[in-house]
Amino acid sequence: MSAEVQLTEIAEVLRKARSIAVLTGAGISAESGIPTFREAQTGLWAQYRAEDLATPDAFVRRPELVWDWYEWRRERVRAAQPNPGHYALAELQRRAPACSLITQNVDGLHQRAGATMVLELHGNILRNKCFDEDCVVDAVLSAMRPPRCPHCGGMVRPDVVWFGEPLPEDVLQHAMRAAQSCDVFLSIGTAALVHPAAQLPMSAAENGATLIEINRDATPLSSMARYSVRALAGEYLPRLVQSAWPEEA
Ligand code: OAD
Repeated sequence: MSAEVQLTEIAEVLRKARSIAVLTGAGISAESGIPTFREAQTGLWAQYRAEDLATPDAFVRRPELVWDWYEWRRERVRAAQPNPGHYALAELQRRAPACSLITQNVDGLHQRAGATMVLELHGNILRNKCFDEDCVVDAVLSAMRPPRCPHCGGMVRPDVVWFGEPLPEDVLQHAMRAAQSCDVFLSIGTAALVHPAAQLPMSAAENGATLIEINRDATPLSSMARYSVRALAGEYLPRLVQSAWPEEA
């Protein structure tokens, strides 16, 4: 099947869908200049050891180092802009009768592009919480690295999910319900290796949804997807949404 015929077919599937669920990963923000995780050379986990920077133990051992690493990542996120892929998904949410947007990303770029009710499975890097009490802490004005919780004096940490930590239960429940009840599931820019997020597309497919993958490279999902498209999200998604709803653009 030619790429153009495939795009037209996928657009038709989207247009007819009653309920869509979308799962995004680091690949959708790559074109905004935010590094992905597992790519050779450029991925964060190719340059840094996750166990030194993204676990509760690492934070207890070297809080200043972990805090500074997250501050560096936050600066990149604040300087980044949503790209056409983020905008196309916000448009998809407006066009489709129902469309849940689930993301593993912590950068908030979907929301900045106008997406609503985004289910952030791994938290948000721009938010902080108290390490001891696990409650969200608003802007902390302190020169300490890391700053201290205004309530209990404990250390403040970024509100992201670290290795070995559970996902936010309510967000995961919503995401699982969306995956199990949709008729079309889109997996975009994720290596589909980290669970439980990677379980969502499989669970959608098991429940009869049409599984569509849009990714620069092949993943473990590719062979089970009804459509597996090798493309850059920021280039492909705007064309797809435009093709599905041409008269309304
Ligand atoms: P990965 O870095 O593992 O995978 C990114 C995927 O995006 C790869 O398959 C790339 O081929 C693809 N990709 C890169 N650029 C792309 C583009 N422009 N368009 C489309 N695809 C592109 O990132 P995730 O799968 O998101 O968890 O990683 C999942 C989780 O692992 C992250 O949320 C993070 C990490 O450890 C936590 O921090 C808890």
